[in-house]
Amino acid sequence: MADELLARLDPAHYATVARLLLSAPIAGWVDAGDAPPSDARGAFERLRLLPRVLRSVAEVHTATTLLGSAVRAPIGIAPIGIQGALHPDGERATARGAAAAGSIAILPVNATTSIEDVRVAAPDATLWFQLYAWPDRGALAEVVARAEAAGCRALVPLVNTPVVVPHVPASVGFRLPAGMELAHGAGGHGLDATLDPTWLEWLAGISRLPVVPKGVMHPEDARRAVDAGARGVIVSDHGGRQLPRSVATIDALPAVAEAVGDRAEVYLDGGIRTGTDVLFALARGARAVFVGRAACWGLAVGGAEGVRRVLERLREELVRDAATCGIADLASIPEDLVVAPAPRTT
Ligand SMILES: Cc1cc2nc3c(=O)[nH]c(=O)nc-3n(C[C@H](O)[C@H](O)[C@H](O)COP(=O)(O)O)c2cc1C
Repeated sequence: MADELLARLDPAHYATVARLLLSAPIAGWVDAGDAPPSDARGAFERLRLLPRVLRSVAEVHTATTLLGSAVRAPIGIAPIGIQGALHPDGERATARGAAAAGSIAILPVNATTSIEDVRVAAPDATLWFQLYAWPDRGALAEVVARAEAAGCRALVPLVNTPVVVPHVPASVGFRLPAGMELAHGAGGHGLDATLDPTWLEWLAGISRLPVVPKGVMHPEDARRAVDAGARGVIVSDHGGRQLPRSVATIDALPAVAEAVGDRAEVYLDGGIRTGTDVLFALARGARAVFVGRAACWGLAVGGAEGVRRVLERLREELVRDAATCGIADLASIPEDLVVAPAPRTT
């Protein structure tokens, strides 16, 4: 899309425009799981804020660090596979957009651009690297070494996929677009259904990079992951794409944050669409959030600039809502900021 048009298009409309720009199978692939029975959006919609007043909020500071890497706001980009389906510049554009916003992008192993090529396209980007539990540990060690050599700052093993679950109904008709391939050769490796915390110990042992398992929902599992050396955990249900009746991540978050305490950093993804959602997640114990579909739509509509605009809009909304709630320091959000509805009894 032309830059002038992009500058006039409110990021709130990116989803609608992306659905017009993308072919139906690709738009449907992004949307899959983003509707009931998944409760990701419903859970956010039910929450309310209890604002505080008469507090100086002349400056709201959003800058923080994620495992030591500086970010302009606590908002990063979740791993999205096959980004070449969304924009010709795919993962390169996402990395450039994240860097321009002072953010972090998690590059998926199922990328259409190799980690080395992404690094060339975005030399300054802070990148983490997402892995699947390939049973072939030799192949996994090789890809980990490539990620480390390309300057990735963390490994993000997906821990909630012990078995292959179709993420998109067959009726959507999504397939890897003609002429594209998975740059790290994921095909054919399969998944290890015997996973336990020793996988995290193994990863921590073969690399100097911090290990940040993605897909932890239960506090006891968060504790087990941290005991096995995890430096962070991502509370994630894969965007409702594999267990639609899962509890929403924003509802699973408080218990995980409490169980982990300050032994590791706790992040959340799932259903983040506005800066208000980010504030809810921070208030419930997340150090940062990651966005999946919002970044997909930004990428589809405007490549790197679309991704940058999505991140910047979320940051602006976060600042606006924090200020309106009397919060200048996101590290000290009042404990009673979030009001949850009473549980339904009928
Ligand atoms: C189109 C699409 C592709 C995805 N591909 C991956 C992937 O390759 N690896 C992964 O760990 N998660 C993947 N996810 C899940 C996201 O990382 C993230 O958990 C989820 O999208 C967060 O929810 P949100 O989209 O509501 O922000 C994908 C999600 C979407 C929508």
